[in-house]
Amino acid sequence: MSGLISLTPQQFTLFQKFIYRQTGIWTQDGKIALLSNRIRRRLRERNLESFDDYYGLLTRGSIPGELEAFIDAITTNETHFFRMAAHFDWFAGPFLDESIARASAGNRERTLRVWSAACSTGEEPYTLAICLAEQASRLGDWKLELVGTDICESALATARTATYRPRSLENVSADRLSKYFVAAPGGDTWTVRPTVTRLCQFHRHNLLEPMPGRKFDCIFIRNVLIYFDSGSKAIALGHLVDALQPGGYLVVGTTDGAHDHLEGVERCSTFLYKKP
Ligand SMILES: C[S@@+](CC[C@H](N)C(=O)[O-])C[C@H]1O[C@@H](n2cnc3c(N)ncnc32)[C@H](O)[C@@H]1O
Repeated sequence: MSGLISLTPQQFTLFQKFIYRQTGIWTQDGKIALLSNRIRRRLRERNLESFDDYYGLLTRGSIPGELEAFIDAITTNETHFFRMAAHFDWFAGPFLDESIARASAGNRERTLRVWSAACSTGEEPYTLAICLAEQASRLGDWKLELVGTDICESALATARTATYRPRSLENVSADRLSKYFVAAPGGDTWTVRPTVTRLCQFHRHNLLEPMPGRKFDCIFIRNVLIYFDSGSKAIALGHLVDALQPGGYLVVGTTDGAHDHLEGVERCSTFLYKKP
């Protein structure tokens, strides 16, 4: 098959709707070349000649793992450590100060549950875990739990290896690098140390579905809703607010356009919301 074949407008619409139903991601009409490139990889993998054949195979669900592989191919997993430092300054500062003060006053338990939703390859939850490790002297007897979730299995596999290339680490200071990472021989990758990784667990989760289990004190949801439309944003944000404890905080990406779709939380700043 020629590497230059693109989706026709009709094929594009079929895939656009399928992706939206599965993930909430709305692929803009101008992205036909990008989507063609991404799906072509799956055609090559499956030795198929046409997008129509692939669409049939994908939607019949006859090949185990193909839907997951397709989602891996079409998602954008760009992320890095300490992305938007101000969000982590708030987490390590005012948020922990308030949590510790409330626990000292007997108004909450000494447990902290934090969810990095759509965490991609894990840099966001590990950054949060580094913030907690740096406050270890204040959190000695606390039970700390960081949950990272994503819809993309290959991103989660990378998160579980906790091994990163220098590009992901550009915002990590030399001091943090030596304290919380180990360099591979040759220095082309760095692995997060167990003092940090032991705080984090990773699961597959689709933002279009409710999050089961105990509620969270803080949820980070950044740089993913930008790919959603207003309908899927409202569904995802509804589930996220449901997953928060009363008094819990939601941290959103400043370009994600979450504000108009948020109900049941109070706005604290451009990136921060609190559940009363
Ligand atoms: C650009 S990354 C953002 C990573 C990180 N939150 C950050 O801000 O750096 C977007 C992630 O959202 C994930 N994603 C897209 N749709 C999703 C859905 N419906 N449920 C869960 N994750 C989703 C993608 O797989 C991708 O890893």
